[in-house]
Amino acid sequence: MVFMNIAHRGFSSQYPENTILAFQKALDIGIDWMEFDLQVTSDNHLVVMHDKTVDRTTNGTGLVSDLTLEQVKKLDAGSHLDAQFAGEQVPTFEEVVTLLLGKAKMAVELKFVGLDPIGQVLDILQNHNAIDQVSISSFDLVKLPEVKRLCPACSTTALLKPEGDLSRDWVAEAQKYGVDVFGPRHTDTTKEMVALAHNAGLVVRCWGLGKDQGSALERMIDAEVDGMTTDCPDVLQAILRQRNM
Ligand code: G3P
Ligand code: CA
Repeated sequence: MVFMNIAHRGFSSQYPENTILAFQKALDIGIDWMEFDLQVTSDNHLVVMHDKTVDRTTNGTGLVSDLTLEQVKKLDAGSHLDAQFAGEQVPTFEEVVTLLLGKAKMAVELKFVGLDPIGQVLDILQNHNAIDQVSISSFDLVKLPEVKRLCPACSTTALLKPEGDLSRDWVAEAQKYGVDVFGPRHTDTTKEMVALAHNAGLVVRCWGLGKDQGSALERMIDAEVDGMTTDCPDVLQAILRQRNM
């Protein structure tokens, strides 16, 4: 399997997270896996945003779930990072799928509350023949059997926050939810855990790699994970090239 260098919220170390610009810039350097997050507007549109409020990443305030798509689309999702990115919009899920289809696989994280929007997520993916291009992830593990119930062919990823408690059998925990991919935080990922997950037939991709974490990237490769999300896909790309991976 080709190592999965997954651009976390796009090329988010250098461009405003979860925007078309951040995804395009990751594509431009040859990244073929993207991670992004989904929220739902008050009029039931899926938009790509990490937080439940628009406060941190736009010039607006309030809950995404209290705003219509039209209101969300009027927000500036670029200036919070740098004035040069003014005018970037919050993309819809469909806009991101359309951009990435055939160019990059998608690690789609369900951040919204409740199970109801899952059908809409799958409808959009099915309408674009994109089911085999995604793995749907969540920390809210009960969402993942619902994904499988509606679309058995869709890959699911259990995101885990073990918070240092390595005494629990997190692989068995993930298996209860019928997932394909095991996603521990990098700080909780050990070579032994990776081997256990591989023996259970799971793909392992860790998360939580931000800026200035070259040594953590190396440690995860040494732990034999299959991939990871990182804000710096350029740094991981250079490490993988150096290692002929
Ligand atoms: O890939 C999982 C990772 O994205 C989870 O953390 O907070 O960035 O959504 P967060
Ligand atoms: Ca995420």
